[in-house]
Amino acid sequence: MNIIDGISKRKSIRGFKTQPVPQTMVREILEIASRAPSAMNTQPWEFAVVTGEPLRRIREKCIEKLRAGEIPQPEHHVVGWTNDSIYRVRQVELAKYIFQIMDIPREDKIKRAAWMERGFRYFDAPTAIVIFVDKTLSATGPVLDVGAVMQNICLAALHFGLGTCIHDQGVMYPDVVKRYTGISESKRLMIAISLGYPDESNIVNTITTTREPIDGRTSWLGFA
Ligand SMILES: Cc1cc2nc3c(=O)[nH]c(=O)nc-3n(C[C@H](O)[C@H](O)[C@H](O)COP(=O)(O)O)c2cc1C
Repeated sequence: MNIIDGISKRKSIRGFKTQPVPQTMVREILEIASRAPSAMNTQPWEFAVVTGEPLRRIREKCIEKLRAGEIPQPEHHVVGWTNDSIYRVRQVELAKYIFQIMDIPREDKIKRAAWMERGFRYFDAPTAIVIFVDKTLSATGPVLDVGAVMQNICLAALHFGLGTCIHDQGVMYPDVVKRYTGISESKRLMIAISLGYPDESNIVNTITTTREPIDGRTSWLGFA
C-alpha cells in the first residue's frame, strides 16, 4: 500500500475479530512507527502493549468505574473546546451520524450508555497500545511528537491488515490502566489505541467521517 492510499484508507475501526495479533507484528509496527519525528529527536513516547488477562481486567475495572459514575481523571485533556464553537458543532454532527448508523434513538438511554461503554471496553479489541510520556516533560511539549507516532502506528497497522481506533476513553481512568500495566505514577498517560483485525461484518465499521475542505482554512501566499 502506498503512502497516499494508507493515509486515505485509515479510519477508526471500532469492531474487531477475536483473532489475536502476534506480538512480533506489534513490535514491527512500533519499531517502524518510532521513525516519527520529534522535537530535537527527544522521542518522548513510551508504549505499553496489552492483551489477554491484563486487558480483560482493565476493561472490567474501567466499566465498573463508569457504571458507578466515577468522574474520569485523564492525565492528558483531549477536549478543550467551548460549547458555542464550531468544534462542538462538528462533535455533535459526528455523534448524530454515529447514532444514526448504529440505530440509537436520542431518547434511548440504555443504548447510548452501551455505546459510551464501547471505548472504555477498548472496543473489545484483542490488543491495546497505551502511549505515555514522562511527567517531567511539560504538559504540552510532547503532544505533537505523540501525535506523530500515534498516526504512524495507525498507518503501519494497515500494512499488516490491522485496524485501529485512537481513543482517550481508554486512558480516562489512569489508575486502572497503571495498576494492570505497571506503568509508573511518574508517567502521564496520553492516549490509547485499540488494535486488531477489523470485523467487516460489524456495522460500526461502516462509519466514514467527512472532512472540511481545505479552502477556507488555508492561505496561499506568494504563488504566481
Ligand atoms: C485524540 C483523539 C481521541 C479520540 N478519542 C476517541 C474516543 O474516546 N472514542 C472514540 O470512539 N473515538 C475517538 N477518537 C476517534 C475520532 O472520533 C475519529 O478519529 C474522528 O471521528 C475521525 O474519524 P476517522 O478516524 O474514522 O477518520 C479519537 C481520536 C483522536 C485523534
